[in-house]
Amino acid sequence: MLEVHLRPLVMSDLARVLEWSRDEAFCLANGWPVGLPAEQLQDWFVRLLNNPPVDLVRRGIVVTTPAYPAGHLVGFVDLRELNPLEKRARLRVAIGEEAHRGQGVGYAAGLKMLEQGFAELGLERITARVHSSNTRMRSLLEKMGFVLEGILRQHETRQGIKEDVYLYGMLREEFRPPEGIRLLESAQ
Ligand SMILES: CC(C)(COP(=O)(O)OP(=O)(O)OC[C@H]1O[C@@H](n2cnc3c(N)ncnc32)[C@H](O)[C@@H]1OP(=O)(O)O)[C@@H](O)C(=O)NCCC(=O)NCCS
Repeated sequence: MLEVHLRPLVMSDLARVLEWSRDEAFCLANGWPVGLPAEQLQDWFVRLLNNPPVDLVRRGIVVTTPAYPAGHLVGFVDLRELNPLEKRARLRVAIGEEAHRGQGVGYAAGLKMLEQGFAELGLERITARVHSSNTRMRSLLEKMGFVLEGILRQHETRQGIKEDVYLYGMLREEFRPPEGIRLLESAQ
């Protein structure tokens, strides 16, 4: 059984981030340029750690398994576009390699970040947006309890094809995590 934890990213995570940047599906889903040179990615990562945007909470997703008893970084989860006045933010979940996808990691990490957003940061609304072809992310959002609120038709071009973008939202009172999942980890 996997254990999933969230923690701040640190400089020694750079090697993993470089590995993920070579996964085209990951880059396309997350708006990263495909094939970005390692030096540019490193510059971006150093800036992110030293001078993080004030409206972003980003946490690394770490799994602990018999193969990785000390924990293994497999992706990250964000609350971005944090708006303290409106008490809202946008969720993003990204698992770096196909081998770690489809095992419940995104679900556990997403629930933990929702808990931090609603319980610790005092948010009242969390949104998400996903391309129509990303059925995995859409299923994940719906499993977490997000409500489909709208569709931006033919809104973004990906690999030469205009795609619809699905807009999801969850209000604080709609967050009902399943019992038996330990959620609270500090957002600080
Ligand atoms: C999308 C992503 C975050 C989902 O995380 P994950 O860890 O793979 O998903 P989980 O294993 O937690 O699965 C949660 C739910 O998603 C759905 N799901 C998982 N794998 C799926 C697949 N291959 N096809 C369709 N739905 C799938 C299921 O509803 C699943 O619930 P279930 O196992 O009870 O059926 C992850 O696959 C990923 O990072 N992909 C690449 C980048 C990306 O698309 N990021 C999103 C940007 S908006």
